[in-house]
Amino acid sequence: MTEVLVRESREEDAEELYRIRRIAFGGPREPDPNRGANPYWPDGYEGWWGLVAELDGRPAGFLRSRDYRQFFGGKAVPMGGLASVAVDPYARGRGVATALLDRALVGLRDAGQCISALFPSVPPLYRGRGWEQTGVYELMILPLDLLALLPKPVTHRTIRPATREDLPALHQAYLAFASTVDGMLDRATKADNPEDVFELDIVDVVPGVDGLRGYLTAERPEGERLIVYDLIADDADTAGKLLRQLASWAGVLHDVSLRVVDPAVRDLFLAQPVLHDVRNHPWMLRVVDLPAAVAARGWPLTAHLRPLAVDVEVADPHASWQAGRHRIVFDGDTVFCEPGGTGAVRLHARALGPWYAGSADTAMLRRAGLLDGDPKAAAHLDALTGAPRPVRMANSF
Ligand SMILES: CC(C)(COP(=O)(O)OP(=O)(O)OC[C@H]1O[C@@H](n2cnc3c(N)ncnc32)[C@H](O)[C@@H]1OP(=O)(O)O)[C@@H](O)C(=O)NCCC(=O)NCCS
Repeated sequence: MTEVLVRESREEDAEELYRIRRIAFGGPREPDPNRGANPYWPDGYEGWWGLVAELDGRPAGFLRSRDYRQFFGGKAVPMGGLASVAVDPYARGRGVATALLDRALVGLRDAGQCISALFPSVPPLYRGRGWEQTGVYELMILPLDLLALLPKPVTHRTIRPATREDLPALHQAYLAFASTVDGMLDRATKADNPEDVFELDIVDVVPGVDGLRGYLTAERPEGERLIVYDLIADDADTAGKLLRQLASWAGVLHDVSLRVVDPAVRDLFLAQPVLHDVRNHPWMLRVVDLPAAVAARGWPLTAHLRPLAVDVEVADPHASWQAGRHRIVFDGDTVFCEPGGTGAVRLHARALGPWYAGSADTAMLRRAGLLDGDPKAAAHLDALTGAPRPVRMANSF
């Protein structure tokens, strides 16, 4: 069989890659001619890097990694968001995507992206290379008239459309909240263009004394459903104001698709009916460089811990630089990962993502066959992250 050759993507690949992506994911036969200097090229030249798989000297597959940062323990960790993984139909089933992933692992490490997340349409492909299901991306579908029943704000809140001058405050309002939720992106890298928000139909803000109390971004497409992306509110009256404003669409539109950004809005504010529709697109995470990833995240729970050390042995043939024995240490001040130790807890590569994020505790990982060894030592791994805890993202890519 012909060997797969993987290399970095180049601008001259643009048309072929556009075709491969279009066949895989759909979209117009020809791109919008107004899309920059080379309309076939995926959005912009910065904020991502790409790989091409060649068969017989011709592009047969593509993937790219977007430069993101993802909050864990209150710190933004460099993350490569794998996207656009596509293989020409004739070349499928012969290891092209796998070859791309193998090379991507090296690229992620070289780019300093110590963790990597992706939205899988084919989980087994990514599991085979060490990614594992970790977090949620959720939408709720709610009838609009339900929102009209929400209690009126007690304190007056003004609402007005955002202007470009509001962009820094809008981002600040997002960050103040997102930095407290494990899994959220910081939306501050070149992979994100803050101006894009103005392509949406609705960008409304609730001004406060200093910055914004909250904001809402939404789109009114054809059909009977309003699409809400961000609803960020510092307090109940602001949330109430923004949600009741959405209710004004009842009559013209039937329901709203509300992206769950803040679980407080979903769980403690909305009065959703017993039966309602929640759509989840789970995402996977992989640790690419364990010592760097341990150093990069925050470990807020160590404030309540005594110093500890856990000896782990990682089985990771596809990221061999992090395979073998490590000691994860909390020395009373910082958490770090150094080589050595007894290997008392054995971890499959797939265990690393859910452990790091805290989405699965070590008992779950053990039941899934991804961890074995000393249970007492393993319990320390849970104490560090506070697992199991919900992990969510409010971006898709
Ligand atoms: C998914 C896709 C990228 C796979 O590419 P590929 O080159 O055929 O994949 P590989 O040959 O490297 O397959 C590796 C493993 O992935 C798994 N896999 C691949 N396609 C799969 C599918 N559709 N369903 C379940 N598992 C699949 C198989 O387990 C395979 O392992 P095996 O060796 O045990 O058979 C390709 O089918 C494609 O472009 N699909 C359309 C776009 C898409 O869904 N992209 C993924 C976006 S997340």
